[in-house]
Amino acid sequence: MVRYAIIGGTGVYDPRILTDLRRERVETPWGAIEVQIGTYKGREVAFLPRHGADHSVPPHRINYRANIWGLKKLGVERVLATTAVGSLNLEMKPGDFVFIDQFMDFTKGGRPLTFFEGGPDGVVHTDVTEPYCPELRKTLIQAAEELGLRHHTRGTYVCTEGPRFETAAEIRAFRTLGGDLVGMTNVPEAVLAREAGLCYAVISMVTNYAAGISPQPLTHEEVLEVMAANAEKLKSLAMRCLEQIPETRGCSCGKHTPPLKV
Ligand code: HPA
Repeated sequence: MVRYAIIGGTGVYDPRILTDLRRERVETPWGAIEVQIGTYKGREVAFLPRHGADHSVPPHRINYRANIWGLKKLGVERVLATTAVGSLNLEMKPGDFVFIDQFMDFTKGGRPLTFFEGGPDGVVHTDVTEPYCPELRKTLIQAAEELGLRHHTRGTYVCTEGPRFETAAEIRAFRTLGGDLVGMTNVPEAVLAREAGLCYAVISMVTNYAAGISPQPLTHEEVLEVMAANAEKLKSLAMRCLEQIPETRGCSCGKHTPPLKV
């Protein structure tokens, strides 16, 4: 049974921390996804690059529902996701890991945000007071401490629509509102994972200071460079965490919504 998954964000396309890799196609009501499945320390893990294996899918066109539904259908219960982020918080520097504990949604409504569209199953409002799995976050924090990696144990992620970067004024506003980091993909991914009853936590890697804080214009190349420079650290963190996730779930992530019939 494939009970674990890694959703790789920008700069994370290589599943070779896993052995005995095979490809699997999973059909969902929103189209098929393709994952690679392998083993790490006796645990079967699915690897799904969010932007496609060749980074061809921009944030606003990712098929978030197919991705989460497909993982659920495989039997996944725990998901570690990676995100490259810009920083609004001078304490969170390029190269730092942040284990975000909150998000703010500034997407513009063009993305399907839910599995629950009403009809015979009724209306579902899902609790996201604490949007990320506390048990997975604790495991990540412990792994980062053991590995001596620079990290922050909390952070508020502001999700923008993209694919453009933000204006300096937008970043000033997000800072005033209490945002620490900015990225383009964590909503609706985190929300759908909660709706599907999955444990979900994020390894955010700061790749740049956000617009107006950074002294130079932002580029995707800069983001990729910082991700590449920190790839080994990210791999060791994901491996240590995968190995230390408690066998049975001690959180309530699976209990917030009616079970999804995949
Ligand atoms: N803004 C939005 N998304 C990002 C950034 C940023 O500055 N850096 C990496 N992903």
